[in-house]
Amino acid sequence: MAYIFKTEKLTRRFSGFTAVNAVSLEIPEGGVRTIIGPNGAGKTTFFNLLSGLLPPSEGRIWFREREITALLAYQRARLGIARSFQITNIFGRLTVYENVRLAVQAVHDGRANFFLPERRLGNLADKTDRVLRDVGLYEAREARAENLSHGDQRRLEIGLVIASDPPVLLLDEPLAGMSPAETHETVDLIQRIAPGRTILLVEHDIDVVMAISTTITVFQTGQVLATGTPQEIRANEAVQRAYLGELA
Ligand SMILES: Nc1ncnc2c1ncn2[C@@H]1O[C@H](COP(=O)(O)OP(=O)(O)OP(=O)(O)O)[C@@H](O)[C@H]1O
Ligand SMILES: [Mg+2]
Repeated sequence: MAYIFKTEKLTRRFSGFTAVNAVSLEIPEGGVRTIIGPNGAGKTTFFNLLSGLLPPSEGRIWFREREITALLAYQRARLGIARSFQITNIFGRLTVYENVRLAVQAVHDGRANFFLPERRLGNLADKTDRVLRDVGLYEAREARAENLSHGDQRRLEIGLVIASDPPVLLLDEPLAGMSPAETHETVDLIQRIAPGRTILLVEHDIDVVMAISTTITVFQTGQVLATGTPQEIRANEAVQRAYLGELA
């Protein structure tokens, strides 16, 4: 099966401490590919290595068939590797519409350009509306972003990411701090935007993880403990011992 990411002995140390330890993994293209594991297992660091936010200490990374180990974050973003940041890129004083519009426009031009022909402006407006509907913020489009609820801000953040129509989305704990209702809406959103893409997800809410993941990879102390379908992971004895005891 075609992979979207492949890593070979990927390692990241922080002054002697090994956060990601010789991880060799093939992540198949498509679906919701979730990484779980205890706090400090190296999940976020692994994401940072994939997106290029951090250089590896050792090892190699491929995106599709192409080696990207030496590419910087913006160069990987251009290949379509998009991540939503825990710290948002939202412009609080702009409206929801303006935020999404800027993100859509940035992709088309590589920079803000306020002197576009009418026809192109129309396309951008259509695209902006589509993204707003996808993330469920069309009704809230005139609101100032800083006045949105926490959950709506997180959804706007996902909107800014999908504005570039990326084939790969890295979502690090997108449900953190959400109310049950917001969680429900965001899970719907993730499932809505998943077809035709690969979603890499780090998430602690195990019920959500079991419900929406195509495969689950379990990290423990910087290494991969197991990979499998939700059913396989639930049944895996090593995983149960290390992490999922409460599920048994
Ligand atoms: N910039 C850094 N400098 C030093 N140590 C770091 C740095 N980033 C991460 N670490 C350490 O690496 C280990 C893995 O951290 P990481 O954030 O990847 O874990 P995680 O699996 O995402 O955890 P959580 O579930 O709490 O988000 C932790 O022990 C953390 O303290
Ligand atoms: Mg983390």
